[in-house]
Amino acid sequence: MSLRRLAPPDIQPASFAFNDDSEKRVAVEIAKYPPGRQASAVISLLWIGQEQDGWVTHPMIEAVGRRLGMPFIRVLEVATFYTMFNLHPVGKFHLQVCTTPPCMLRGSDDVVKACEKHIGHAQMAPTADGMLSWTEVECLGACTNAPVFQVGRDFYEDLDADSTVKLIEAFRKGQPLKAGSQTGRVSSEAAGGQNTLTDRAIYAPRPVATAPHNAGPALTDSEAKKPTQAASDREAPAQKPPGAAT
Ligand code: FES
Repeated sequence: MSLRRLAPPDIQPASFAFNDDSEKRVAVEIAKYPPGRQASAVISLLWIGQEQDGWVTHPMIEAVGRRLGMPFIRVLEVATFYTMFNLHPVGKFHLQVCTTPPCMLRGSDDVVKACEKHIGHAQMAPTADGMLSWTEVECLGACTNAPVFQVGRDFYEDLDADSTVKLIEAFRKGQPLKAGSQTGRVSSEAAGGQNTLTDRAIYAPRPVATAPHNAGPALTDSEAKKPTQAASDREAPAQKPPGAAT
């Protein structure tokens, strides 16, 4: 896992401002939270900023802090914790390669080697044409289809060295291949195809019960609100007289 630090000052832009489209999205995100709780929108605002400029910059972090009334350091903590935020300029297609144990046990080393050979050894370093970059990340939450990498909002799964190279070449040409499993696996079923719940009869519609579960008279509102005996009371062991055998 690489160290997550802001890009050096010499490549930071002088300022940041959300553009008109981003401002509309920002307003929607902030409005999701009650007054005084706007800080909850911090991840959304950083994401909107990243989608606008491609990476999270120092001035962007300050602007988000000002907008949400948060100290700079708190926004910085969020930006440096989540690998979804690029702290350096990245390629148009940025491959986030999972190398956490489930992916490692299923061959993520080969995916990393393919990235090093066909994109470059340095992580977070865009290729000369600006099309590609890669980095290692922690679990992407798609372990059943390991090994996995993420590009933008898409996951590429069930990878090996060959499929990784094929994908990298497609990205380089700006023609990404289909996202998802690269072996044709459907969802997260067993690698050789579905082998449980295969009896189609269990999916047949069943008759809907017509009689209500509780056929007794309905309680009135006031009856329903009457206090009943507490569970702790009902289940308390009976008191024993002093000196009684245990
Ligand atoms: S370990 Fe790679 S997706 Fe979970």
